[in-house]
Amino acid sequence: MKRAKITVIGAGNVGAAVANWAVAKDLGDVLLVDIVEGIPQGKALDLYEGTPVLNIDSRVKGTNNYEDTKDSDIVVITAGMPRKPGMSRDDLIMTNAKIVGSVVEQTIKYSPNSILVIVSNPLDAMVYVAYKKSGFPKNRVMGMAGVLDSTRFRSFIAEELDVSVNDVNAMVLGGHGDTMLPMTRLANVAGIPVKDLIGKERLAEIVERTRKGGGEFLPLLNTSAWTAPGISVVDMVEAIVKDKKRVIPCAAYVEGEYGVKDIFIGVPAKLGGNGVEEVLEIKMNEEEQAEFKKTVEHVQSLTQMLKEKVFNEGA
Ligand code: APR
Repeated sequence: MKRAKITVIGAGNVGAAVANWAVAKDLGDVLLVDIVEGIPQGKALDLYEGTPVLNIDSRVKGTNNYEDTKDSDIVVITAGMPRKPGMSRDDLIMTNAKIVGSVVEQTIKYSPNSILVIVSNPLDAMVYVAYKKSGFPKNRVMGMAGVLDSTRFRSFIAEELDVSVNDVNAMVLGGHGDTMLPMTRLANVAGIPVKDLIGKERLAEIVERTRKGGGEFLPLLNTSAWTAPGISVVDMVEAIVKDKKRVIPCAAYVEGEYGVKDIFIGVPAKLGGNGVEEVLEIKMNEEEQAEFKKTVEHVQSLTQMLKEKVFNEGA
């Protein structure tokens, strides 16, 4: 069987991390694309030269030419500006909408049957841009955020209780921003509700740290994180390439699920060979519904801005 062709557009911090982890997990051949000459070629060559040590037969290439992306199975889009200290993800919206829009237009010419995984921020809005620009069916366009927010939440819980990360299950839903919704009611350690193990106030602090998780890096690195984001993208790519039917929170198009329509937002999705194969619904309690409504409204306002300013749809 042919190896999967995984194209990563944007060979910056996150793009390079995606390439590294996709190769380390032997998921297929990897092509790095960037507008800057030399960077994707150099990073790809460096990674390829390590493959004999890993004993992995991935072809890794870098390019500035979209013709080379022909027949990609999965296209991960990380192109765009990251945050600087003091910025919110939303501040990037118009700049990144232009970049993501042009990247999608060029990509779909050569890979009309690909699956798009968007990473550029503000995430939920950028997935919407990719969906509209590509005209792809909803199952073939998705965004990476929920896995990342959830792995942050899980890591903080594991650290707090000094238990294996392997035993911590927790999910974060909603938009990829400060309104995200860590589902504390469902978080558990080997089936034991986290609420039984961590006091209310401390748990609230962990939830707050999760919500602001991305922002923690800005003063440390002067930009946003890339390793956990890269690993999180690769978790989704693996589920698709191996048709695993994993249930992973990601930004998926909703058409009535959770009582919401025509936006991309973080929901539990079944990921397999056809991309987002199903959106799974959780029965939320009143408090969760109220929180979910807030995050939906935030994403709706960003999406509306795009409809008016980028797609010239009626105000
Ligand atoms: N086509 C291809 N690549 C582009 C384009 C474009 N039109 N515009 C910018 N790029 C490239 C840049 O040259 C750079 O190499 O995108 C890359 C972005 O890399 P970084 O600046 O290192 O940013 P990174 O931390 O990887 O974040 C990328 O992902 O998590 C989000 O918020 C983050 O929106 C940001 C994106």
